[in-house]
Amino acid sequence: MIVALIPAAGVGTRIGGDLPKQYQLLAGRPLLAYSIEAFAASAEISAIYVVVAPADQSFGGVALSARAEALTRTLPVGGASRHESVLNGLEALAKELDPADWVLVHDAARPGLTAALVARLLAALLQDPVGGLLALPVADTLKAERADGKAATVSHTVDRAGLWQAQTPQMFRFGLLREALAGALKANRPVTDEASAIEALGFAPRLVRGSPSNFKVTYPEDLELAEKLLKGQ
Ligand code: C5P
Repeated sequence: MIVALIPAAGVGTRIGGDLPKQYQLLAGRPLLAYSIEAFAASAEISAIYVVVAPADQSFGGVALSARAEALTRTLPVGGASRHESVLNGLEALAKELDPADWVLVHDAARPGLTAALVARLLAALLQDPVGGLLALPVADTLKAERADGKAATVSHTVDRAGLWQAQTPQMFRFGLLREALAGALKANRPVTDEASAIEALGFAPRLVRGSPSNFKVTYPEDLELAEKLLKGQ
């Protein structure tokens, strides 16, 4: 079985506004709806789980297509960090998922996901022993800032050769992912993506080419850019 898990329990303070980031409107629709619909448009995905905050009052108001509605279930077990939200979601599914089932973890804040990107990830990884993630080779020159505070100034240039930016979905088998995230939490080693927890167990996740449109909405201007891309401007 192949399922999607979308952590959507953050507060998203950097974006401003009254609503958590995943519920901010993009062309009149909550950000979260775009990711759900991308998975619903992928025939291989048999369930879409959305991890929301225990006190969430907003998900019920998200309008979805009939197919998305039928596939989607909320898990009101969001935690203090993305790491905890994903792990809590996996724990809540322990009775219904098999250790060998594939889980595609995707940020609610990446509305640019498409069924074509999901298909590319599945085609690359379904036969892989470990799994992997969508990512993009770093195109810009990277600068490290000086640690002396005040105005940001360059300390040195970081060699970008061989560096990739991690995106989501990140696709791993349920059993391994649960073990990796639980182990990292227990060791007090917070992780910002699933792959780093898997790497810590000595595995090498595969890098599958993502897309610049699958960027993470973080700041208010990102919402404007996402809206332009959506409208094909
Ligand atoms: O804030 P950031 O962009 O890193 O969040 C990435 C994703 O993780 C978002 O979809 C957000 O809702 C989710 N998240 C979560 N629980 C938290 C923090 C973030 O589900 N405590």
